[in-house]
Amino acid sequence: MRITAPDPRDRVRLESIDLADTALYAEGDAHLVWQTLRAERPLFWQSRPSGEGFWAVTSLKDVRRVLSDHKAFTSEAGTAIAMLEGPDPAGGTMMQSTDPPRHHAYRRQLAGRFSRHAAASQAEWVRSFVRKTIEPALDGEVWDAAAALTRLPMAVAARMMDLPDEDIDPLIHLAFASLAPGDPHFGEGSEQETALSAHCEIIGYFEERLVEVRKKPGGDLISHLLTLTVDGRPLTGSELLVNCLSLLLGAVVTTAQAICATLAVLPGPGGEGHWPRDAPLDGLVDEALRWSSPVLHFMRRARTDVEMHGRTIRAGEAVTAWIASANRDDAVFERPYEFDPRRTPNPHVVFGAGVHRCIGANFARVMVREAFAELMDATESFSIAGGYVHLLSNEIAGCVSLPVRLRAARRTAR
Ligand code: HEM
Repeated sequence: MRITAPDPRDRVRLESIDLADTALYAEGDAHLVWQTLRAERPLFWQSRPSGEGFWAVTSLKDVRRVLSDHKAFTSEAGTAIAMLEGPDPAGGTMMQSTDPPRHHAYRRQLAGRFSRHAAASQAEWVRSFVRKTIEPALDGEVWDAAAALTRLPMAVAARMMDLPDEDIDPLIHLAFASLAPGDPHFGEGSEQETALSAHCEIIGYFEERLVEVRKKPGGDLISHLLTLTVDGRPLTGSELLVNCLSLLLGAVVTTAQAICATLAVLPGPGGEGHWPRDAPLDGLVDEALRWSSPVLHFMRRARTDVEMHGRTIRAGEAVTAWIASANRDDAVFERPYEFDPRRTPNPHVVFGAGVHRCIGANFARVMVREAFAELMDATESFSIAGGYVHLLSNEIAGCVSLPVRLRAARRTAR
């Protein structure tokens, strides 16, 4: 997504807003649109000429409320705009699309695998992966940070799930085709066809993996899924498959954006990017997450009529919660359009809120932190060496390509 810093007084016409339009995020000024909505229409009805309309909330308070109030808003009938067209086939079976109390059973049994401790145990491996990734670029070659860094979360997911290294690149392609089917880098046919075929390929892939894992279970995450019990029974074949899919998608399409968006914002007027070495590393990580907001929105449906801002959301209607807007809310963040790694507190909602708050957050933090630590250690500075190619999506703030030139730190210069 294009990250802009609109003048706080600027507005767009409400009638011109189309939050479903993927081009708004890749080519337009979504931050200006959200700024307008926060100020003028905090509960906005997005009508669509060719499909079901939806509500949109954009302030941090409302985003938190919609995502966390699972009694008023269900996750079982679609969690993103792309799912407005029909029932969610994974509703009630995939953890992210399942409401409590069933959701709790999934989460309780998976929590240990995603704990802070489990994530921290991967830090050294992550760091060495990043070291190898940037090494070829330390002699001044142009380095595509987006392509290289997208491999990091996929490699971590592959490690957790014990998937072969040679599957990493094809799975990255399928994950993006599945979540950003309108982006020409990932799909050629219609969006529906691209998304469906990518979904089916990933499901087919995990079907084969499950056959192998059932024969010889190990200590990996897929073997662990086989031990889960929900409603007093093991997961069915389709429950296993959709949860493998969800874990893969959640991991792969998000984390690299936090690093790429930071690389893009740090260079000053001279074009040279310097690391904020005097800022706390955890502060840099949090600000990178807030700034990039890799997930743009998640969606819910009202279970009953809900009053908000003097209007009624009718039972069954869809409500989108714009996380990337919430993270620029000037009622919460001073100077929201400024990248400030010393910002404290930094109460962003980049990982969502409530029972569905990102289960992979500890892993995401470790990846972003170790990537920055290694980049800061190995490089003196850097510069952007080409255009930032944004992902065409209304769900994910991804980056397809970001050419960067790294300047090696003196001790590693050859
Ligand atoms: C910077 C990186 C990441 C961001 C911004 C992010 C964002 C989010 C958000 C906003 C949610 C809430 C969904 C909802 O409310 O419906 C979520 C849930 C989830 N995320 Fe992440 N995520 C990231 C990394 C990861 C990673 C690395 C994994 C896997 C290792 C992962 C797996 C999941 C799963 C499985 C859920 C569903 C949790 C549940 O329903 O209980 N995510 N993520």
